[in-house]
Amino acid sequence: MENNLHISAPFGSDTLRSSSKIIDQFDRKFDYLRLAVNEKCNLRCIYCMPEKGIELLNEDLYLSQLEIKRIISLFAQMGISKIRFTGGEPLLRKDIPNLIRYAKYKCGINQVYLTTNGILLNKYISQLEAAGISGINISLDSLKPERFEKITRRNKLEQVLSNIKLVQDSKVPSLKINVVFMRGFNDDELLDFVELTKTSNLTIRFIELMPFDAHQIWKTGKFYKSEDIVKDLKNQVKGLLPVTGSNTEHYIFQVDKYLGKVAVIPSYSRNLCANCNRIRVTADGSLKNCLYSKEEKSLRDEIRKGASDQELKDLVCNSFFAKHKDGWDAQRTEGNIRKSMTQIGG
Ligand code: GTP
Ligand code: 5AD
Ligand code: SF4
Repeated sequence: MENNLHISAPFGSDTLRSSSKIIDQFDRKFDYLRLAVNEKCNLRCIYCMPEKGIELLNEDLYLSQLEIKRIISLFAQMGISKIRFTGGEPLLRKDIPNLIRYAKYKCGINQVYLTTNGILLNKYISQLEAAGISGINISLDSLKPERFEKITRRNKLEQVLSNIKLVQDSKVPSLKINVVFMRGFNDDELLDFVELTKTSNLTIRFIELMPFDAHQIWKTGKFYKSEDIVKDLKNQVKGLLPVTGSNTEHYIFQVDKYLGKVAVIPSYSRNLCANCNRIRVTADGSLKNCLYSKEEKSLRDEIRKGASDQELKDLVCNSFFAKHKDGWDAQRTEGNIRKSMTQIGG
């Protein structure tokens, strides 16, 4: 199968010839690729996976390393400036440092990030640092050991916390903590999380729960709307100042004199769609033009049929040109939505 691949020279003549930027009918420009590199995970978060894990595909249905590199190179030629490796848990692959170097130094993508559950960071932090990673986002929903175990079904809080410390002590330029925030579940930890920003230059991000889960925790009344999180933050924390952040950080603040920032991400409410700049490729090689989209295009199948770079670029441009105005319209279309975030890559 890999004989069919022709890897384009990352910064060869092809790059110079092609400048097919990705834009849509609403004039949004897409320059941030979220690339899922596997569906496996070493945790079993209750809002994401059943205890026994999700059913995995045959190994050959996932993108190979060569195919991943071809996709990175292709999107670099199309003008992306930021890439994030996600999963599943990306660090369950040994080649993440290699992929980071490839993106950064071979393809010239300056901003290369990773979203991880943090468990394996002690094993990889030096290599990630050496590979020139721009930042790491770590998922952490509770600072209480018993609750962490209840959410993730694994007793790993201590390990995640000590790995967060490793990142803080490293030269990695950016550290963010993703907290999926749920009513009557971890909302009593709001101030504990905010306090982490007092002496450390990290961003705590409270994230709305999204309805992708095999267990339907979604239907249990634990949803905590971003506007309510912001209201509660403002009521409970003195000296909140508005600051600037990334595209997903729709609401972002800094407590006066604190080093870090606190953000709230309306991932369900979707009032961030007007500024959407994200391209998603799943671990099995499907292009998604919206997190909530049910229409996917298989880059993997086209690559394996021998598609040229230009054909792949046309497929990407056409898919994005037809992108819906927002995640609500995308959700209304026909098709199957994937069951778990681990299959979408967040
Ligand atoms: P930054 O680049 O640091 O802003 O990170 P990010 O938010 O783009 O990436 P991360 O992997 O940390 O994603 C955190 C969460 O943000 C995801 O789980 C989603 O809940 C939410 N999110 C990210 N991108 C989108 C998006 O395009 N739409 C929606 N609705 N939510 C998103
Ligand atoms: N809703 C909101 N966020 C989720 N994540 C995983 N599943 C969900 C969900 N159903 C978060 C993880 C990780 C990010 C990539 O996505 O906590 O930080
Ligand atoms: Fe973009 Fe879809 Fe997310 Fe909205 S819901 S920000 S359109 S990916």
